[in-house]
Amino acid sequence: MDILEALLTRRAIRKFKKDPVPQEMLEKILEAGRWSPSASNSQPWDFIVITEPDLRRRLSRSFMYGSFLAEAPLGIAVVVDPWRSGCAVQDGAIAAYGMWLAAHGLGLGACWVNPNMDETRVRELLNLPEGRELICILAIGYPAQSVKSVRRKLKDIVHIERYGNRGEGRAEEE
Ligand SMILES: Cc1cc2nc3c(=O)[nH]c(=O)nc-3n(C[C@H](O)[C@H](O)[C@H](O)COP(=O)(O)O)c2cc1C
Repeated sequence: MDILEALLTRRAIRKFKKDPVPQEMLEKILEAGRWSPSASNSQPWDFIVITEPDLRRRLSRSFMYGSFLAEAPLGIAVVVDPWRSGCAVQDGAIAAYGMWLAAHGLGLGACWVNPNMDETRVRELLNLPEGRELICILAIGYPAQSVKSVRRKLKDIVHIERYGNRGEGRAEEE
């Protein structure tokens, strides 16, 4: 799969087969995260590999939209240290997206679980030191669903030279 195809076909997968993610695939996904770009090459991230079913189950209850983490054979928490980078959140998000795409490229499915609910509980469960920030947990596994998605049209989001100039007369994107 080339990069453009991977970018266009990656979806948020929230249903997984029970099969574990092979170690070689896990290592490739982590490498994709490690080689992500970051501000001043600060690499402010740590990745927590989560496979224990009980931990995944308990974590899944602490997120508003993350119940599927309990059924995913693998979770990867992306944690950043804002002292290492002035753009730690952006850096961490890029690393997470890189791993999401890598998982897709390997034939796996993944979805971002956002840390939006019981932060104290999640910090406790992951043993996060003070000062570290959780960007997301990626739930990863072999996909057990195929998902359709939608996007706003290019003609509605692209501006030519200045905001508001839609470049009338350009070929319309469908
Ligand atoms: C910053 C961010 C936060 C997200 N948080 C969640 C989440 O907490 N739970 C969830 O099920 N999906 C979450 N998603 C996945 C999005 O819902 C999904 O990417 C979006 O609906 C588009 O679907 P697609 O990725 O299949 O095209 C998140 C995605 C991003 C980028």
